[in-house]
Amino acid sequence: MIQAYRAALLHFHSDPDVDGENAYTFLEDGLLVIENGLVKALGDASTLLAASPDLPVIDYSGHLIIPGLIDTHIHFPQVEVIASHGEQLLDWLNNYTFPTERKFADPGYAAEMATFFLDELFRNGTTTALVFGTVHAASVEAFFTASHGKNARMICGKVMMDRNAPDFLCDTAESSYQDSKALIEKWHHTGRQLYAVTPRFAITSTPEQLAKAGQLCEEYPDVYLQTHISENKDEVAFVQSLFPESKDYLDVYDQFGLLGPRSVFAHGVHLTPREHARFRETGSSVSFCPTSNLFLGSGLLDIAKLEQEKVTYSVATDVGGGTSFSMLHTLNEAYKVCQLNGHALCPLKSLYLATLGNAKSLQLEDKIGSFNLGNEADFAVLDFNCTPLMRLKQSKSTTLKEKLFSMIILGDDRAIKATYVAGDCVHDRDGDAKNTKN
Ligand code: GUN
Ligand code: ZN
Repeated sequence: MIQAYRAALLHFHSDPDVDGENAYTFLEDGLLVIENGLVKALGDASTLLAASPDLPVIDYSGHLIIPGLIDTHIHFPQVEVIASHGEQLLDWLNNYTFPTERKFADPGYAAEMATFFLDELFRNGTTTALVFGTVHAASVEAFFTASHGKNARMICGKVMMDRNAPDFLCDTAESSYQDSKALIEKWHHTGRQLYAVTPRFAITSTPEQLAKAGQLCEEYPDVYLQTHISENKDEVAFVQSLFPESKDYLDVYDQFGLLGPRSVFAHGVHLTPREHARFRETGSSVSFCPTSNLFLGSGLLDIAKLEQEKVTYSVATDVGGGTSFSMLHTLNEAYKVCQLNGHALCPLKSLYLATLGNAKSLQLEDKIGSFNLGNEADFAVLDFNCTPLMRLKQSKSTTLKEKLFSMIILGDDRAIKATYVAGDCVHDRDGDAKNTKN
């Protein structure tokens, strides 16, 4: 099955802060050719169509196709927690998040919310996410079932938490190990699904449980590890009181063998120089969640500092602490956080981060994040004219950079005309994608 898509095309080969114009390919009138869910060809539409006049084409002229957006930190059971008023992290967890996560003991509820959640990701052009479930294995079962059903490349894990949380959300070190192991055996590399060992954070795990998380990472060396770190100052102080022997917050995870290039630590707003060095030495990465950090009053992560320290980082929504599923909106807020830290985030860098950069941080750049030939065909079709204001602003913009910047600052789910996963359309905003013979 072969299918071509005609539109402007943009994808990255490397970091535009480093390689400038050599870091990306932009084709004003491009053609993306997909065969059996993989990228088969990419080039100027007129050239490719002259050579292959029989290619079936879906015409998105006037739009921009980019690789599917990637979100490296999000909680699927927190859809309904989004926009809960008035608290910072620890009270927000106790008052809003934990009572909601309780509902996911019910597999029927988990299945319903998994479907909603995936649809919402696709509506926003996001095709891959690193996802927290709840403590209930059934929540992850529901998520993978839904994601596998859509053939989406998703990474998810059952939360491990055995203290400092309500009884109804606590497992034990042993049960969390057994449940996680069973989920890994069933789902890791099933179709496009991947597993992440998921201790919630140091506050809600005993040393015994963190040791079990480390054991899982050792027994299954290619699974991911996701958790939270240094999001909020009260949290950091609480961790220090629970682990008085630790050098700092990251050292808690380090002691249990949880660091490495597949380990993603959400937030990292209040890290010390020693922690930066340990991130660098182990290849662990920070997931930057600007809408969440602003909403929960956690602080302003300085990604320029991370770059200086050669700490790998990615960008994420962190719904439901985060306030939007949209990676465009997330990049908008990232820009503002960077402004407050004294530097201007370039729109090309932003889109690099949300595609290839995030893929690299998940070690998935050989599969997703760009249109390299043979990559999985996940992509989003962006509409520069989706609102009167966007249309006006675009008409006044001349350079690619200006056009992309106003897309980031003004865009959200309305700007996503369509989303494709492994070559299949999973979101069609207007229901009018037309397959035309050239
Ligand atoms: N730290 C521990 N759990 C959570 C969570 O669910 N959301 C956020 N933002 N931080 C956390
Ligand atoms: Zn989170």
